[in-house]
Amino acid sequence: MKGVILAGGTGTRLHPLTRITNKHLLPIYDRPMISYAIEALVTAGISDLMLVTGGTHAGEFLRLLGNGHDYGIDRLLYSYQDRPGGIAEALGLTERFVDGEKVVVMLADNIFELSIRSVALRFLDQSEGARVVLSRITDPAHLRHLGVPDIAEDKKIRSIMEKPADPPSPFGVTGIYFYGPEVFEVIPTLKPSGRGELEITDVNNWYVRRGLMDYDIIDGFWGDAGESIDAYYEVNDFVRVHGANGIGAVNSAIRP
Ligand code: G1P
Repeated sequence: MKGVILAGGTGTRLHPLTRITNKHLLPIYDRPMISYAIEALVTAGISDLMLVTGGTHAGEFLRLLGNGHDYGIDRLLYSYQDRPGGIAEALGLTERFVDGEKVVVMLADNIFELSIRSVALRFLDQSEGARVVLSRITDPAHLRHLGVPDIAEDKKIRSIMEKPADPPSPFGVTGIYFYGPEVFEVIPTLKPSGRGELEITDVNNWYVRRGLMDYDIIDGFWGDAGESIDAYYEVNDFVRVHGANGIGAVNSAIRP
C-alpha cells in the first residue's frame, strides 16, 4: 500500500503564523508538525510515500525531510499543488505514484495519540472500497468544523456531511483515509464545493452511496492542529504530556 501525505493549503486559519512558513512546519512540542504524520504512516508499516505540498515555502520540506531515510521512509517523492484546490485535488496529483495500488492518505495536521497500524492492517484485509477513521467528539460546536457521518441503525454510514450545522452523530471524520485504486476515477467527476475546493467528503460519499465505505472508531486523543489557533495549542499541550502515535498500543478501533 502506498502512502500520501497532504501538506498544502494556505493555512489561513493560522494566520499570521502561516504567512512566514507552511502550516505543517509549525512546531508541535519539539518537532515540526509534519513529522507526526510521517511517523504515523511509517509505524503503520507504510514506507513508500509521496508528499504533496504547495505555496511559497515548499522547498523547506526538502530541507527538513531530504530523501526521508532518517524518518524510516524507503522512498519519498514530492508533488506540488499549484493552487489551494482542496484535499481531493491534491490527492489526484498522486495517481501515477500510487499506480494501481491501495493508498492511505493522511492530512499532515492530524495528530493521533495511538498508532493507526491496526486500522491499516484491517484495510489491507478489506477486499474492496474505502475506509475512514472516526473519533468521538463530545462538543457539537467542534463537530460543525468537521466531516460528520450519519450512522444508520445497522451501523452503516448513511452519508457524511461536511461541516454540518446540525451534526447527525457524535463522530468526526479524521484526516486519514484509505482507498482502493478506483479513487482516481472518482476525483475527475467531482465539482468544486462552496469554498471552491474538491472535497474529500464528496469522494467518501461516492463510496458510501455504493455500500463500499467501512470505518473504525479510534480510541485516544485525535486533533486537527490546523483547525484554529486554539486547536493548535490543544494539540501542542496534549503531545507535550502524552506523546503521539503510541506504538504497540492496543487500538480497539471497532464499530460501536
Ligand atoms: C477536512 C475535511 C473534514 C475532516 C477534517 C479532519 O477539513 O474536509 O471532513 O473532518 O479535514 O481534519 P478541513 O481541514 O479541510 O476544513
